[in-house]
Amino acid sequence: MLNPQLNSQGELIHLLTTEGLPKRILNQILDRAAEYIAAGDAGTKKFAALTGRSVFNLFFENSTRTRTTFEIAAKRLSADVTSLNIQASSTAKGETLLDTIHNLEAMGADLFVVRHAQSGAPYLIAEHVQPGIAVVNAGDGRHAHPTQALLDMYTIRHFKGDFTQLRVAIVGDVLHSRVARSDIHALSTLGCPEIRVIAPKTLLPVGIESLGVHVYHDMASGLKDVDVVIMLRLQNERMSGAFLPSTQEFFKHYGLTPEKLALASPDAIVMHPGPMNRGVEIDSAVADGARAVILPQVTFGIAVRMAVMAIVSENQRGAQA
Ligand code: CP
Repeated sequence: MLNPQLNSQGELIHLLTTEGLPKRILNQILDRAAEYIAAGDAGTKKFAALTGRSVFNLFFENSTRTRTTFEIAAKRLSADVTSLNIQASSTAKGETLLDTIHNLEAMGADLFVVRHAQSGAPYLIAEHVQPGIAVVNAGDGRHAHPTQALLDMYTIRHFKGDFTQLRVAIVGDVLHSRVARSDIHALSTLGCPEIRVIAPKTLLPVGIESLGVHVYHDMASGLKDVDVVIMLRLQNERMSGAFLPSTQEFFKHYGLTPEKLALASPDAIVMHPGPMNRGVEIDSAVADGARAVILPQVTFGIAVRMAVMAIVSENQRGAQA
């Protein structure tokens, strides 16, 4: 099957998922992000990559980190940025998603950043936009959150170097997590030899082993000797019915405390995509502790999103030339 995010030369023209994304493209994005960070450290704060291009941020679901860092990233690339207020838009009057998109195309959009509660919404948009317009998935339902995975990969590469020697544990509500899926695909492509998921049975998708992960139901064995711990939030907004006896019970068994973290490698890092629920999946002593790299993840997210937007924009422009 054709990968809808690549053109006929195998270049990235939309970013929809990390699933099936070749290693060379993952590394191209991480390397470009590293260049932006190095240039920023050397004093360059503004880049010309998106000069004259219009970026529309369409967040149909709440967001703090993704929305804001996409906006900062687009501005650093000199784009004209419009963040649509969905609550105050004509979506509330019944306008369809594609009608909204076509109207924004008529205003000169070049790149859409889309977050949507429906899995697949960014794919639908990518199928229907005019040639030359890029779509970047900022999280769709429980399906994918590719830029979060890329910033997670950047963070791991920054703190750990090589992926090929690492044990990585992803802990918590894997069932409802688009971050977990996107991280698993990216880690696997980048050569991580041991990816573990740790969760109660009710919070794991059936057949998760087919993604090549090792399944654990207890922290004592799952965290043993891991180099990276990625904690996940309980996605209550995607749950219908009771998946857990209580959040207190969940914290007791799966909440990351200093005692449980002591089971991991002594230099293990702790990551979390945010937003965190302290006292549910993570103890404040860990979230604010020396091993947490949760805020660096957010900072790296700016450069990673700059890299993604610059690359898809260049490749779309190349196709138009
Ligand atoms: N990690 C993440 O997607 O956070 P936001 O929901 O705040 O964007």
